[in-house]
Amino acid sequence: MKCVDDFRLKLGGREFVPIMTGGMGVDISTAELALVSARLGGIGHISDAMVPTVSDRRFKTGFVKEKQKKYKYNVFNADKSVVQFDLERLAEATRLHVGRTMEAKRGAGLIFINCMEKLTMGSPRDTLRVRLSSAMDGGIDGITLSAGLHLGSLALVQDHPRFREVKFGIIVSSLRALLLFLRKNARLERLPDYIIVEGPLAGGHLGFGMDWAKFDLKVIVTEIHQHLAQQGLDIPVIPAGGIFTGTDAVEFLAAGAGAIQVATRFTATNECGLPDKIKQEYLKANEEDIEVNMISPTGYPMRMLKASPAIGSGIRPNCEAYGYLLDASGNCAYHDAYNRELEKHPDEKTLSVMDKTCLCTHMRNFDCWTCGHYTYRLKDTTRRLPDGSYQLLTAEHVFRDYLYSTDHRIALPLQTPA
Ligand SMILES: Cc1cc2nc3c(=O)[nH]c(=O)nc-3n(C[C@H](O)[C@H](O)[C@H](O)COP(=O)(O)O)c2cc1C
Repeated sequence: MKCVDDFRLKLGGREFVPIMTGGMGVDISTAELALVSARLGGIGHISDAMVPTVSDRRFKTGFVKEKQKKYKYNVFNADKSVVQFDLERLAEATRLHVGRTMEAKRGAGLIFINCMEKLTMGSPRDTLRVRLSSAMDGGIDGITLSAGLHLGSLALVQDHPRFREVKFGIIVSSLRALLLFLRKNARLERLPDYIIVEGPLAGGHLGFGMDWAKFDLKVIVTEIHQHLAQQGLDIPVIPAGGIFTGTDAVEFLAAGAGAIQVATRFTATNECGLPDKIKQEYLKANEEDIEVNMISPTGYPMRMLKASPAIGSGIRPNCEAYGYLLDASGNCAYHDAYNRELEKHPDEKTLSVMDKTCLCTHMRNFDCWTCGHYTYRLKDTTRRLPDGSYQLLTAEHVFRDYLYSTDHRIALPLQTPA
């Protein structure tokens, strides 16, 4: 019986363990988590979501305070178009986050960064260019383009000296999205080095509508395999979303996938950036505690625990400090929802906004508990402790379980001494 370790991902003339840990913003997929994957010969992702905030936490820098101070005068102004990121500071924060992570890398694997197009940051093209190029300056091994079609993203950095050396991948949820990406980038003669196909059971934002349940990862992966074969393109395809056991992974690898991308199982590890108390919320969740809703201002459906404090919260938009979802005109869908409620209830101290959420603030504070569909199975991957809580795992344990498990078995951790 085959296990994941019987397969290898071939990328740029080298071979890797075919396990990628997915990007999870904001700093849920920490450098520590990504470094474990790389040390064990696979590929780990850090995320480029809200990097100035992440850098402040990691390195005690003051990027957020500085921006907040600069725009303090605008806090009560509904018009956020003046709020802009200082591109130099953004580059500095990204180089720091990426550079320190790369310095710490050991082992035969790679570290990639997950870069979301939907983080429009008040000036979509300029901020994306800076994020991509400074990640390359910082020595990143690869960039995964996510949360958007990225039709113009590669062109933004085509003149960067590392443009043909850094691995570029795209996350798609349909053949159609892949075809658009390939067509738009044809003139650059820079095909993606890998294609992550994310199905409807993934965590974070979904590349589907609210009819996500009608789609099936295996069907989409097969369509994409067939298209690439017809075109004679040899690009590794990497399925993601709901791959919970090593055996799930082997099924995809045996059918021709180059690797698999996984995330949910790593939310129950010590290295995951969620606070321990919230990891317990994930571990104890049952199927009925999880929903897909439309409260993200990005317009994409998002999967999360129903108990997330972000749901229904009506806090004042915090764009002067964050502002990652402001579009080129300074708008964010949360503002409209918030201002509407404010107008309806001008005297109320605490507002409730049900249809949208201030995603920046709530992701920053770990109050939006986005999760994968199979989060309710996490409790089966560990032991219950005498106090009723669940034992956290090491990322190495989960990685090795994916690597060696057969027959859908999941290895429980060693019991921690009482
Ligand atoms: C907590 C959490 C946060 C996530 N955040 C992001 C993100 O910021 N950007 C992104 O492209 N994907 C995000 N994802 C998706 C993962 O990178 C991955 O592709 C997917 O969840 C894999 O499926 P699995 O969780 O069932 O293993 C997130 C997933 C989880 C569980």
